[in-house]
Amino acid sequence: MPAREDKGLLIRPWRAASLTFPIMTTSASLPAGPFTVPRPATPADLEALLALEALCFEFNRMGRRSFKRLLERPSAHILVIDGAGGTLAASAVLLSRVGNRGLRVYSLAVHPRQRGRGLAKAMMAAALDLARATGHQWLSLEVHPENAAARALYDRLGFHQTSVEENYYADGSHAFRLRRYV
Ligand SMILES: CC(C)(COP(=O)(O)OP(=O)(O)OC[C@H]1O[C@@H](n2cnc3c(N)ncnc32)[C@H](O)[C@@H]1OP(=O)(O)O)[C@@H](O)C(=O)NCCC(=O)NCCS
Repeated sequence: MPAREDKGLLIRPWRAASLTFPIMTTSASLPAGPFTVPRPATPADLEALLALEALCFEFNRMGRRSFKRLLERPSAHILVIDGAGGTLAASAVLLSRVGNRGLRVYSLAVHPRQRGRGLAKAMMAAALDLARATGHQWLSLEVHPENAAARALYDRLGFHQTSVEENYYADGSHAFRLRRYV
């Protein structure tokens, strides 16, 4: 999902929320089990975040420096769902900017072996909860036109297209920019 490094864009609307926000409130439709509840990532999750990123994205991956920076940045929220043996089953990176009424879903990744279990839905439910709690009016994100699974997910969750961003991805493809009001 991320197109490029967004250096210098992120400024600080809230800090305490990043580690204390009670994230999962809408888990009724999820399978029971310990690995379905999003929690805020900590610096200790860095290696697992990188491993998940490598498994989930062919290009436009977030690198070590980006994750390190975002883990420390008050305007960034990284949510994770724990997998087995210290791995992560899912991650989501949410970014805010001062003056922007939307919370941006910068990245969403579910481990290939954990897909189809509702983890992406759980992450997006947590993102919506966070957006509401922090006074944002919508979630926004970009999706590759050929990413059928993600497009189906966002469609099912009620996102609508707001624009097309030309030459957005490393493969030269455009992106659909989507939005869902909270
Ligand atoms: C896209 C992705 C996040 C979905 O994660 P997931 O945990 O498997 O998704 P969920 O199980 O929560 O599925 C939620 C809904 O998404 C849709 N969906 C998910 N995977 C799908 C697929 N392969 N084909 C069609 N629809 C799909 C379905 O509508 C599904 O709802 P349903 O099961 O009630 O029909 C996951 O495939 C992934 O990490 N892909 C690689 C990284 C990526 O593309 N991230 C998004 C970038 S924009």
